[in-house]
Amino acid sequence: MPQTAPHRRLLPLLGQVGGGRSRTTCRFRCGDACFHEAPNTSDNAYFGDIAAAALSRRNVLRAGAVGAGATAAVGLAGFGPALASPGPRNPRLKFDGIEVGTSDRVEIPRGYEQRVVVRWGDPVVPGAPKFDINRQTAEAQEKQFGYNCDYVAFQPLGRDRGLLWVNHEYTNENLMFRGYTDGAEADLEHIRIAMAAHGGSVVEIRRVGRTGGWRLADGGRHFNRRITATTPMKLTGPAAGSELLRTEADPEGTRVLGMLNNCAGGMTPWGTILTCEENFNQYFVGGEGAPEEKKAALRRYGIATSGDTRAGNRRFDRVDERFDLSRHPNEANRFGYVVEIDPFDPDSTPRKRTMLGRFKHEGATTRLTRDGRVAVYMGDDERFDYIYKFVSAGRYRKGSRRANSSLLDTGTLYVARLSGDSPAEELDGSGALPADGAFDGRGEWVALCTDKKSFVEGFTVAEVLVHTRLAADAAGATKMDRPEDIEASPATGKVYCALTNNSAREPGQADEPNPRGPNRFGHILELSEQGNDAGATRFRWDVPIVCGDPEDPSTYFAGYDKSKVVAISSPDNLTFDEQGNLWISTDGQPGTIGVNDALFAVPVEGRYKGELKAFASVPVGAECCGPFITEDQKTVFIAPQHPGEDGTFDEPQSTWPDGDFPRPSVVSIWNSKGHDIGR
Ligand code: FEO
Ligand code: CA
Ligand code: CA
Repeated sequence: MPQTAPHRRLLPLLGQVGGGRSRTTCRFRCGDACFHEAPNTSDNAYFGDIAAAALSRRNVLRAGAVGAGATAAVGLAGFGPALASPGPRNPRLKFDGIEVGTSDRVEIPRGYEQRVVVRWGDPVVPGAPKFDINRQTAEAQEKQFGYNCDYVAFQPLGRDRGLLWVNHEYTNENLMFRGYTDGAEADLEHIRIAMAAHGGSVVEIRRVGRTGGWRLADGGRHFNRRITATTPMKLTGPAAGSELLRTEADPEGTRVLGMLNNCAGGMTPWGTILTCEENFNQYFVGGEGAPEEKKAALRRYGIATSGDTRAGNRRFDRVDERFDLSRHPNEANRFGYVVEIDPFDPDSTPRKRTMLGRFKHEGATTRLTRDGRVAVYMGDDERFDYIYKFVSAGRYRKGSRRANSSLLDTGTLYVARLSGDSPAEELDGSGALPADGAFDGRGEWVALCTDKKSFVEGFTVAEVLVHTRLAADAAGATKMDRPEDIEASPATGKVYCALTNNSAREPGQADEPNPRGPNRFGHILELSEQGNDAGATRFRWDVPIVCGDPEDPSTYFAGYDKSKVVAISSPDNLTFDEQGNLWISTDGQPGTIGVNDALFAVPVEGRYKGELKAFASVPVGAECCGPFITEDQKTVFIAPQHPGEDGTFDEPQSTWPDGDFPRPSVVSIWNSKGHDIGR
């Protein structure tokens, strides 16, 4: 039956800021990044190459689909239908799209079921006590499931058991502790609890009956593990041991304690987890007292070097002085990496892979090159920052864990430079398509260094890998609208990147790969590597989806009838099902389109290309993390992160999942009849 939802009014967006997040999220997650100037002050062109003489007239119908005088403005009233008639049904994506609203629940399509798999505080390693939010200790938290779940990965152990990896990106102390005000006033035990609630977890889970639902395995304690902000880790790769990474506590520059703000991630073909340190800058204070010659690099990563650098910080320095840069200026250089973890070996030492560069790593997606090497695609999630790729020197060897264990330490690190094929004057920042009907063009992967040689003048290899943003500035990388997750389609090999939004891009700074200024709602970039080879150094690119309300003329859904798609904003995490449909989860809908964050699915090829539908939505105040579709296609895991983030311990705004206080958790969703997810 066709569904028609009533028109919605844009809700008042009180307390929302540029990126569409609440003020509280900004403070706890990003250290108020949007309230500071974007740290990229390089003079790289926004639009690297405007030699667009060869105007392909292909797909002029696409241009025709956008009326004259299209603008990026969104009216406050008349917000479009949440879901219109779906028309003929796509046999590869048959679920009835949900209407995304503002409930304090996980909403799923008719014919699907859900079950919480694991919650913040659940005991996971031996000796863990039962969770008691009123009597929490750091010792307990180190053995219990951590806070804000982000990246989720699943490794099967036979048919009915498996290992779940979950990132714990950051903590909402306002929700965790009664009467919490700020780090300066915080009880020191609360700071230690927060440190223990960061990091990640490996938990063994069991299938519930014959369904696609999962729960924590009883006694599944062999693999279970907590990684925290104090877990010993090894720095590996070319920058390990360099002067930039040496500290008083680690004069060799090869050992570091903990990982911070792990956002998204990826899995390697050899079964390890890549987990990515993102907004690590916010944990460091004392930048004003760092040596003068180190300050420019600190600032490029968003670390304050003047004023009151302690205000608003979690103040980890109050329990561990290494977070004070006035005393240990190199400590911040030891964060901001992709960390490789073996979930099958709870005694293994996590490795920070310096060869993959240091920036605000969102995720890390691997793909094999045609000759069997490993490529890793990575976004640097900051306004006007870059997209990167690493290609290993060695080849992946199936079944040889030992040989593969050092693959990420040698190879080449690249940064993306994109040029459009339409003239700059056709790109006015409104989102109106240029005359050739497409935001598209060519790109190249610019080599920054190998493990042996730097290609950036004035930078050693170690400097490229530790001050990667500065090296990429010098290499003329293309400034993007906050590159988040990147995933490759298993059906075509094309690579997709979520560009979540960029409220700071001005109309005059719009370019073909980032065609709106400001970009409030984000877009999706599609890369087609030359020869469909992940090892290529050239690619073509396209923008198949320009997000927002479909009634907003600046939006675009691969040319699909916009009366038949649903509003989406702030795309963040991506995954694919085996049919090649792209699944997109969001982080920022409450502040931009006035509804909860959600998980969407959209075909990116074929007749139904662009037919975007909402599959699930998360509770009030949460962003939708994960998603992960199991190899058997029977389960999708999502992780509602920071439910009720604007509340407090005493006045919660969400009581999900158990009706008392909010607990970030992982949820399994499955089809009641056992069909594949979405089908
Ligand atoms: Fe932690 Fe870029 O999202
Ligand atoms: Ca074009
Ligand atoms: Ca993210």
